[in-house]
Amino acid sequence: MTALYETIADHITEQIRSGVYAPGDRLPSVRRIKSDHGVSASTAVEALRLLLDRNLAVNRPRSGYFVAKPRQSKPTRRVPQSRVDRSMQARDLRTPLSLRLNLGIGNPQRPTLGAAVQGPELMAVTAMNRLVSQAMRLNPVESHSYDAPPGSPDLRRALARRAPAAGMEVAPEEIVITSGAKEAVYLSIRAVTRPGDTVAIESPAYYALLEVLASLQLKVVEIPADPNRGIDLDSLAGVLDRHRIAAVALVSNFSNPTGSCMTDEDKATLTSLLARKRVPLVEDDVYGDLAFEGHRPKAIKAFDRDGWVLHCSSHSKTVSPGMRIGWCVPGRFLNQVEHLKLVVNQATATAPQLALASFLDSGRFERHLRRIRPLFARQVDDMIAAVERHLPSDTRHTSPAGGHVLWLQVPGLDSLALYEEAASRGIHIAPGPLFSAGRRYLDCLRLNCGFAFTDETDAQMAALGELITRQLDR
Ligand SMILES: Cc1ncc(COP(=O)(O)O)c(C=O)c1O
Repeated sequence: MTALYETIADHITEQIRSGVYAPGDRLPSVRRIKSDHGVSASTAVEALRLLLDRNLAVNRPRSGYFVAKPRQSKPTRRVPQSRVDRSMQARDLRTPLSLRLNLGIGNPQRPTLGAAVQGPELMAVTAMNRLVSQAMRLNPVESHSYDAPPGSPDLRRALARRAPAAGMEVAPEEIVITSGAKEAVYLSIRAVTRPGDTVAIESPAYYALLEVLASLQLKVVEIPADPNRGIDLDSLAGVLDRHRIAAVALVSNFSNPTGSCMTDEDKATLTSLLARKRVPLVEDDVYGDLAFEGHRPKAIKAFDRDGWVLHCSSHSKTVSPGMRIGWCVPGRFLNQVEHLKLVVNQATATAPQLALASFLDSGRFERHLRRIRPLFARQVDDMIAAVERHLPSDTRHTSPAGGHVLWLQVPGLDSLALYEEAASRGIHIAPGPLFSAGRRYLDCLRLNCGFAFTDETDAQMAALGELITRQLDR
């Protein structure tokens, strides 16, 4: 029979192997093991000693037990890398590709061609740090209380004041604050569907939307989308005539992955088509503020007269993804979305809402946007130049007018195989089939342009070019 101290040591060993405790991390103290496992101090000490015997831990007098560092010549450089790789490989068989893509991001976010994240210089890090502290200082008790749905009145007022920039007239009481745009989309889809229903989406589509639909046991009809204009309205109208469609869901402006932006004419046509058919539209407009030039494009919600559009957005792409502030303007589904927000996670964190409200109201947000929009434009341009430099000459790419993703098609490519080959060299991309319920677009991939283009980016693009050429030659 295994002794109790061995069971505890095995448990901690497994936690070290799976990366819960990384090399150099402090291990649970004797006191903590005692209380977690309900054992005596001597059993806890025995367990820790066994970890010493296994060379998994070191004991620093008066400090405690720490995970031993691997005996390698350059431990500090290798440790984070091998830790990420190991956990990714252990999850290979059971982790969806999207999760692996997100595992590659790192915290703080590291430059990546895979996940659609951006560099810290493109967020409002300093201002938001100050405003969150200020919010907590000025609201010492409220900051620690639930800000029950629909969320902070200050923030909803600030968002309502800014809504005309997207062509919308919205009252604060029409807005529900969410934890990011993703939650807004999730709540919206849930509010208007039942398991087994069918949702029409643009194709290719944002992969997280596909995951939301799958998790809610919904079926999907993929409607072709043009890389410039977005969803094909004739195809959609045909599908609406032939099928019972519970909802339509798409990214209206600078879509992910193609960067398409619907015209005002298409937005107006779509809203009247859906109002006629009484079909709700879940609009994700998370990139609308990132137009490279000219005015911000209008939201589809701007054309909605009858409340069938559930408009979802956030400031994850412009201010801070980690603050997790998003919102939904659910139209005629306001009560359902508000109730679901309460059911799903009670409330969004209070201090970030107050901080964002001050940021928007002070005019700093507009200045910030003026600063970052040309930077995103430059990054996309630099990436297009690298694609043209390093990838096969018949590669086709989008030329988005906003956002920070690029969609490529390389005739003959197996982007899933490329994903694996590139990942083993520490280069992450988003393979085409991720963006389709039917696993289409095998010869496509998405590149993130959210980080300043550096020599390292260029080297990664050159390596991708080599991998692609080699694959196509095989
Ligand atoms: C189209 C789209 N919607 C939503 C999100 C996520 O937004 P949030 O972080 O606000 O949940 C992303 C992030 O990549 C996105 O590309």
